[in-house]
Amino acid sequence: MLAAAPVTTRGTQARTSIASMTDSASMPQIPSDAVSFPSGGRMPLLGFGTWQIKGQEAVASTEAALEAGYRHLDTATIYQNEAEVGRALRDSGVARDDVFVTTKCPPHLAGKEIDTIKQSLDLLGTDHVDLWLIHWPADDGLGLGIWEKFVEARELGLAKDIGVSNYTAEQIDRLVSATGVKPVVNQVKWSPLLFKPQVLEQHREREIALEGYSALRGGTLGNATIREVADRLGRTPAQVIVRWHLQHGVIAIPKSTKAERIRSNADVAGFELSAEDMEALDGLASA
Ligand SMILES: NC(=O)c1ccc[n+]([C@@H]2O[C@H](COP(=O)([O-])OP(=O)(O)OC[C@H]3O[C@@H](n4cnc5c(N)ncnc54)[C@H](OP(=O)(O)O)[C@@H]3O)[C@@H](O)[C@H]2O)c1
Repeated sequence: MLAAAPVTTRGTQARTSIASMTDSASMPQIPSDAVSFPSGGRMPLLGFGTWQIKGQEAVASTEAALEAGYRHLDTATIYQNEAEVGRALRDSGVARDDVFVTTKCPPHLAGKEIDTIKQSLDLLGTDHVDLWLIHWPADDGLGLGIWEKFVEARELGLAKDIGVSNYTAEQIDRLVSATGVKPVVNQVKWSPLLFKPQVLEQHREREIALEGYSALRGGTLGNATIREVADRLGRTPAQVIVRWHLQHGVIAIPKSTKAERIRSNADVAGFELSAEDMEALDGLASA
């Protein structure tokens, strides 16, 4: 599983009507970096997070993300917005196959996994998701029974790939040794302020893609070092944080309900952080 080399592309317009109305010079420069899985799945390193966005706001925000050029959406059963995310995807005019869709199953639905994914698919209006995650470890610290059902869902073609969220490397090892099936992704809380090189290394060694969440929370946007780098490069702190993920090969899924932030958070293909800036951000967790 390898991160593709960074390539700069302009976000493609979702709808002809939008394309004709929009000045292409103002389109964000969306990164096309991705990780590839043995299934043939290709997961863009930049995705759109949808936690805490519901109802019409979820439709509008997801549409704005697709219009800006995001081609990866992150939702979950417990977000209660799969129908809205699905509606935005259908209405956007972007081909389903061009968008990587992740949803998640909470462990308290153990025993109802296949019904749960079928419900997610109904709500999303699709016959498969690209990635289905166990949202967090079950009370046994693993979710072995859930994982077996995830494998079944993959075999049924309901999920192209399966993974976990909020697992430690040690929990993943136990899951793999009990079932022989490796998750392709682990989605964890991740930001420069939480950076742990050993966690990155553990996932690299196992060839499991690391996906970060909530990177714009917890004081990162106001951090003096991040602000200094952003000001020097003429970028926003959010762009610097997203860029930092990409340069580590970590998947980033910033969330916003504001169209301008949605666009700007993705506009990160046109600059690079120097080795010194990467080191400064990496050092914040221990500072
Ligand atoms: N697996 C898990 O357990 C788990 C847990 C949490 C999240 N997630 C996933 O990860 C995604 C991202 O995490 P998150 O939603 O916690 O947080 P996030 O994307 O790190 O931050 C979102 C917050 O930052 C604000 N924001 C976004 N862009 C901004 C900008 N350019 N300038 C200033 N503020 C900005 C947003 O406000 P506005 O909306 O007002 O712009 C919102 O309050 C989620 O949406 C979800 O898909 C997964």
